[in-house]
Amino acid sequence: MSTSLFDPVRLRDLDIPNRVWMAPMCQYSADADGLAVGAPNDWHFQHYVSRAVGGAGLILFEATGVSAEGRISPNDLGLWNETQAEAFARVVEQVRSYGAVAGLQLAHAGRKGGTDAPWRGEGPLTAEEGGWTPLGPSPVPFDERHAVPHELSREELRDVVAEFAASAKLALEAGFEVVEVHGAHGYLLSSFLSPYANRREDEYGGSFENRVRFPLEVVDAVREVWPERLPVLFRISATDWIDEGGWTLDDTVRFAPLLAAHGVDLLDLSSGGNVAGARVASGPGYQVPFASRVKRETGLATGAVGLITEPAQAAKILADGEADVVLLGRELLRDPYWPRRAARELGVEAVTRPLAAPPQYARS
Ligand SMILES: Cc1cc2nc3c(=O)[nH]c(=O)nc-3n(C[C@H](O)[C@H](O)[C@H](O)COP(=O)(O)O)c2cc1C
Repeated sequence: MSTSLFDPVRLRDLDIPNRVWMAPMCQYSADADGLAVGAPNDWHFQHYVSRAVGGAGLILFEATGVSAEGRISPNDLGLWNETQAEAFARVVEQVRSYGAVAGLQLAHAGRKGGTDAPWRGEGPLTAEEGGWTPLGPSPVPFDERHAVPHELSREELRDVVAEFAASAKLALEAGFEVVEVHGAHGYLLSSFLSPYANRREDEYGGSFENRVRFPLEVVDAVREVWPERLPVLFRISATDWIDEGGWTLDDTVRFAPLLAAHGVDLLDLSSGGNVAGARVASGPGYQVPFASRVKRETGLATGAVGLITEPAQAAKILADGEADVVLLGRELLRDPYWPRRAARELGVEAVTRPLAAPPQYARS
């Protein structure tokens, strides 16, 4: 079967060597404080470099806080100082040396910040445990376990916008060639979009135009410091998965051309995260129709993610024109070499990096 899965994709002036991308996945493994706070360490090094050796075209580094309060857990990666930028540069340099492109997801956890790693129960942390008061559009907690967020003032919103720009600058310095603005999963930008989480009565809440204002200000600020020649991606939760009172797929279709007009080159379509307990209709490729509809109706390039696990399934998504690229999360945790295995299974000759094995493994 012929497939475009391993064809390069060009965004602005950047050629990304194939269309199997690593989805951003928090590792909750950085130091929580001290000099190396938020900086990638040996765990992150092996984690990201292995997936580059495994053949993914774009390695999207996990949600990285643009400030200390922008982290989800105290052990999240962060990028707000030079020490962190230098630590990122070491990993990025290695990822790139295997032929993959390195991208960073710039994030602010918003009202879901200050919580523990999932394997420690994900619970909100007190100040003594290293937690902090989370920030949000409105003083509405995510659920009964989470703290009531501090409602960001207009001035504080301007500060957050500036933090995104400063972090993007540091990402460029560290060698990243792609940034993805995290607008999904109920974190800060996502919570501004959703009328369920955003109850503001100023120009940042209420109407659709008001709710998209802050995320677009962040995109503008990132675009301003990010080179013209390099792409900016945006990850969105395409739906809140509730019948009424939430962000919907229609909203996403309406928002996509605005993102494009503000300089976003590809929309990465995930879902959920604003409404605790919302029923997600999960299953193989369950979010592909979101990518497909946005691509069809707006012409914006899209990425499909969510339970894409089989080579033939991934190939079909592209062959059917449902998305421009696929992103794999958990399957790449199970098998860092999935792209190379998929190429073999699909009969694609892997001659170029990152798909071709490094010389040390050539005899395999
Ligand atoms: C351990 C883990 C951490 C994750 N962290 C992030 C993250 O930092 N940013 C993000 O946008 N999504 C995150 N996600 C969601 C994934 O990027 C992906 O969208 C999701 O797992 C569905 O894809 P999959 O079925 O291929 O795993 C995470 C998922 C997992 C399993």
